[in-house]
Amino acid sequence: MIQIAIDGPASSGKSTVAKIIAEKLNFLYVDTGAMYRALTYYCLEKKINLNDEESVMKLLNQMNYEVKVVEEKLHYFVDQQDVSEQIRKPDVAKNVSKVASYPKIRKYLTELQQEIARKNNVVMDGRDIGTVVLPQANFKFFLTATPEVRANRRFKENQNKGISSDLSEIIQAIKKRDEIDSHRKIAPLIPANDAILVDSSNMTIEQVVTNLINRIQG
Ligand code: DC
Repeated sequence: MIQIAIDGPASSGKSTVAKIIAEKLNFLYVDTGAMYRALTYYCLEKKINLNDEESVMKLLNQMNYEVKVVEEKLHYFVDQQDVSEQIRKPDVAKNVSKVASYPKIRKYLTELQQEIARKNNVVMDGRDIGTVVLPQANFKFFLTATPEVRANRRFKENQNKGISSDLSEIIQAIKKRDEIDSHRKIAPLIPANDAILVDSSNMTIEQVVTNLINRIQG
């Protein structure tokens, strides 16, 4: 099986790029952030104490997580409930780093991600794909962009979805999330030694896709 790992911070453009590359290569796209987000959403909905790893783990063991294509778009389900929109909301974004910092949660989801990659050619995006989940991946990319550029992208995404947001708040939230994600003890957000770094601050999505495809197809 062929494995392509794309890591990077929030709003670095990695999911958009990963999705397009997966389509072009006819590989399975795996959004690992959506797994952490779906669990976080479900904890909030079920009023699980997010500060208690055991309670979060219990819910993860019980819940059913599925990804399906609906009208040509990926949709995420927990216990048959479509949570695709909910998992992108600010209260999930605010709490997901906490959930993603728990070792048992990471172990469970890492194994699930590895199993998917054993059975399919994948383009998998996340924070620790090249370092922890798929250290033997055929291609590893690390996408970056400045916090300001990333916040602007998120702000515009929100605008397009009709969600009102405050740009300076988004910048602060992105910086805070980067800080937590980069400094946690387990699987921090760092490029693998053999990852190709791509700074997308001044690149369009098309330019990033072309850059990566050229390297993959060599
Ligand atoms: O890529 P994203 O913004 O959807 O990720 C949501 C959160 O999940 C982010 O705060 C970091 C965490 N995450 C992680 O720790 N490991 C991954 N492989 C993917 C995401």
